[in-house]
Amino acid sequence: MFWVLCTSIAFIVTGIGAVLLYEEKRVRSLRQQVAGKTEELKKSEEKYRSLIESTEDFIFTVDKSGRFQSLNNFTANFFGGTPSQFLGKPLSVLFSEEVASQQLKLIRMVFRFGKSVRDEFMVKTGEHYTWLSANLMPLKDEQERVVSVLCIARDITENKKLESQLINTEKLASMGTLAAGVAHELNNPLGVMLGFTDLLLEKFDKESQNYQDLKTIERHSLHCKQVVENLLSFARQGEGESESCDINEAINEIIGVVEHSLEMNNVELRMELASGLPRVKGDLRQMQQVFLNLINNAAAAMKGEGMLEIKTAPDAGPGKVRVTVRDNGHGIKEEHVENIFDPFFTTKSEGEGTGLGLFVSHGIVTKYEGTITCESSTEDGHRRPRGTTFTVLLRAKKGMGHEG
Ligand SMILES: Nc1ncnc2c1ncn2[C@@H]1O[C@H](COP(=O)(O)OP(=O)(O)OP(=O)(O)O)[C@@H](O)[C@H]1O
Ligand SMILES: [Mg+2]
Repeated sequence: MFWVLCTSIAFIVTGIGAVLLYEEKRVRSLRQQVAGKTEELKKSEEKYRSLIESTEDFIFTVDKSGRFQSLNNFTANFFGGTPSQFLGKPLSVLFSEEVASQQLKLIRMVFRFGKSVRDEFMVKTGEHYTWLSANLMPLKDEQERVVSVLCIARDITENKKLESQLINTEKLASMGTLAAGVAHELNNPLGVMLGFTDLLLEKFDKESQNYQDLKTIERHSLHCKQVVENLLSFARQGEGESESCDINEAINEIIGVVEHSLEMNNVELRMELASGLPRVKGDLRQMQQVFLNLINNAAAAMKGEGMLEIKTAPDAGPGKVRVTVRDNGHGIKEEHVENIFDPFFTTKSEGEGTGLGLFVSHGIVTKYEGTITCESSTEDGHRRPRGTTFTVLLRAKKGMGHEG
């Protein structure tokens, strides 16, 4: 009996021992699993954090009152600060009052309806404008209540520029046709007016008031004639023109004409013309008109001192040649950039410019399936130096040189 009792106790003790051992093992393995999962979680969090930090998108979260709860480095750096500087602050520390209130309205909508919304807005940093396309999304808790709003925004300035260029091209094409028609109508009466003025001038003494008045009429009529001629040259495109030209030759000839006056104005000329370029689509004289206008504009913007750089190169795209005309002159104000190709847009004083140079140049370049674009800055900024760059992309003529 005693032995039976002893054996049973031994069994029970061994059993309890085994259970405890097993429990300890289980707890240890559980601990290991938890540690493993925590590590995984940490890694995954780090992965997402580095993803958010390395992206060139604006990512931030805000509460219902539009105060920053978090923001990535890119956003903070873009506005010239660090994330911690902006935490807890309202949207208006980064955005203008107008943009901030527009965003706040959207944020309230997201809180209310729990649905994402999209919008585009413009932000200004210094003298620089950036267009952003933003997606505002609700972040919810377990009870499906919106706790904050996540905003991911992307810089779409380039797309916006392209869009407005397309609109511009269409607008200019129709305006061009109209303007050329009007010019035809004006050309003859103008000729008659100038002819009669000339006849009358001969009848008066040079010192007389009448003579001076007639001279004023003549001066203004000549200005009109200049305008009409520019418009007609636009209309005349297509008459007896060559199909292709050597762009370096076109530029060299033009430089021969303007070199002296550039020198007189202390403009340093830098030329980098690539050799072996294919011929491009376009009439030589008309191409020269384009580059002469770009050079004249650049010279006018430098007011007696500066640097003019003219480069030709094969473009990265197939079958294209790129010509850039860059100056370090006073630049074009941001609000004027979208008007410079409009007919009669000029910032020059009366008699100095007709405002048709770029309009005509644009017409010529697009007629030959090329593009002309402009980048300008009126101040030395961290992104680009002061000055203006016009880029003309021309199509290589098929069957000549290395076309695509
Ligand atoms: N390189 C440049 N730097 C600064 N502003 C420029 C430059 N090129 C053009 N612009 C601006 O664009 C406007 C329009 O240029 P455009 O060549 O069409 O006319 P314009 O030079 O004023 O007159 P026109 O060419 O008939 O003599 C200019 O008045 C000027 O304000
Ligand atoms: Mg001009």
